[in-house]
Amino acid sequence: MTGAGKPAADRAQPSPQNPWESVPLADYEAHMALSQVGQLQALSALTKRQLASHPVRTVCILGVAGGNGLAHIGPGIQKVYGIDVSQAYLDRCAARYAALGDRLVLQRADLSDPRVDLPDAELFIANLLVEYIGIPTFAGHIARRRPRYLSCVLQQNAGEAFVSASPYAEAFAGISSIHTDIDAQELTAALAAAGMEHTGTDRLSLPNGKQLIMLEYTRK
Ligand SMILES: C[S@@+](CC[C@H](N)C(=O)[O-])C[C@H]1O[C@@H](n2cnc3c(N)ncnc32)[C@H](O)[C@@H]1O
Repeated sequence: MTGAGKPAADRAQPSPQNPWESVPLADYEAHMALSQVGQLQALSALTKRQLASHPVRTVCILGVAGGNGLAHIGPGIQKVYGIDVSQAYLDRCAARYAALGDRLVLQRADLSDPRVDLPDAELFIANLLVEYIGIPTFAGHIARRRPRYLSCVLQQNAGEAFVSASPYAEAFAGISSIHTDIDAQELTAALAAAGMEHTGTDRLSLPNGKQLIMLEYTRK
């Protein structure tokens, strides 16, 4: 694990193994922020709701990327863990949110590996992450950690390509090999077997006709 602000040069850089490690954060964020895509802003707003609606002191964000949504971490949160496969994203996240000090703990991990040991946190957030590791592996992580609350956001593509057309779309060519559309009911069934009860669903329409679906779960 690395604390916020630790220089990248202090750590060995692994060779890219996951396609996300080849997507520059600037391209990812520029694509997601385009007005016709509108996802970066929508995901930040949803993270704000996820944090506000759960009375917790510890949070773990799976697929934290460059820290979209971390601006909404309030003083009541004592520890925020951020997990991602991309060390470059985590370095940028640490630099952006250095003000969180040792309340922010970032860990490089490939969550497609079912053996990854996740930190203990009351609330787990996984926004647009399950699409890249699949339901069985994700539910396996949750079954082992059994957080008090879990909130997930999935993208519903309405028959469209999961990457919207944009000048940056080429940067995402590699990730299509690991992306799968996730069925919300299948996810909920797997999480029920993992000890998590479905407590709510919310939908947000995006400018490009796609939808973000937010699913809430509480430990049984
Ligand atoms: C579509 S982005 C979502 C970013 C962020 N959650 C948000 O809402 O803005 C997916 C993120 O998951 C990370 N990711 C994808 N596969 C992963 C894996 N196997 N292990 C860890 N992180 C992964 C990517 O590096 C990327 O940061």
